[in-house]
Amino acid sequence: MSKIILTGDRPTGRLHVGHYVGSLKGRVALQNSGIYDKIFIMIADAQALTDNAEQPEKVRQNIIEVALDYLSCGLDPRKSTLLIQSQIPELCELSFYYMNLVTVSRLQRNPTVKSEIQMRNFEASIPVGFFTYPISQAADITAFKATTVPVGEDQLPMIEQTKEIVRKFNSVYGDTLVEPDVLLPDNKACLRLPGIDGKAKMSKSLNNCIYLSDTEEDVRKKVMSMFTDPNHLQVSDPGRVEGNPVFIYLDAFCETDMFAEYLPDYANLDELKAHYTRGGLGDVKVKKFLNKVLQEVLSPIRARRKEWEQNIPAVYEILREGSLAAREVAAQTLSDVKNSMKINYFDDQALITEQAQKYAQ
Ligand code: TRP
Repeated sequence: MSKIILTGDRPTGRLHVGHYVGSLKGRVALQNSGIYDKIFIMIADAQALTDNAEQPEKVRQNIIEVALDYLSCGLDPRKSTLLIQSQIPELCELSFYYMNLVTVSRLQRNPTVKSEIQMRNFEASIPVGFFTYPISQAADITAFKATTVPVGEDQLPMIEQTKEIVRKFNSVYGDTLVEPDVLLPDNKACLRLPGIDGKAKMSKSLNNCIYLSDTEEDVRKKVMSMFTDPNHLQVSDPGRVEGNPVFIYLDAFCETDMFAEYLPDYANLDELKAHYTRGGLGDVKVKKFLNKVLQEVLSPIRARRKEWEQNIPAVYEILREGSLAAREVAAQTLSDVKNSMKINYFDDQALITEQAQKYAQ
């Protein structure tokens, strides 16, 4: 069976370093590994509209931002198909049929939907489209017969829901859809990078993100202002590395060989952590090192972004071509689905003959 990746992001803002370690970096590695037959990366604008119905302009503006972030991280349109969700109408048709296979109570139990409803204060007035977005996400995944969905931990309930829909569809209508597997980053620190304020999640509304498109100076300022261990008041005090965002970021971004270059007093991260824990290592020194580490990771991304920014029409062209290619694949799946459901009346000569015979007497 071919190995196919599908994943994506909602275009509601520029992507940040949490997206990078949680997903983008892994996608680029998967792309370059050469072991996947096809890779589809979706800008999920229709999903973004499910909770931004009144801000279509925000979604519209951020499509190019996300595309630029993708390209600057190293997603290569010759190897990965970049597409815009709303340009694939087949996804709506698939969702429409999948809706019959999912109960309201099952959607209500979806932990991601639950927490998003709370976060958005939707309790009393949940848009139907938002409520059902796990079904449309199942359409996204199955339309491309994805075997592998690399995502962050928060998306696990979505993949679980997709698997249930696939099993239900296949058991009712016969083997048609492919059950996908989730692929999480293996580095724990990358699963959920906290904000620079130490809050559990980077989010635009909390203003605690480091964006991939931030300037060198923005990044430096943000790193130097980062929350650390609040009890580490004096350099001589023992500090805590657990739950300390500066060390979580180092866990996520630092490669051992960066010590030789930027902080040769230590051989590796364990030594640095041990010194901090023992006392005698100041936050400023650790933050300066983290800044160097982040700049090393971000500067090639920033440089590639600058180049693509000079060629915006070419980026839209990449998305147009990707969407066209993706549409062909989704159309084939939709046709398979309709055949399995036997709602392909006009292609079904046996049906026509059978009905004709019924009335022939
Ligand atoms: N729900 C994802 C997010 O919020 C975006 C997304 C839409 C997605 N469709 C997808 C992710 C399909 C993986 C597969 O980031």
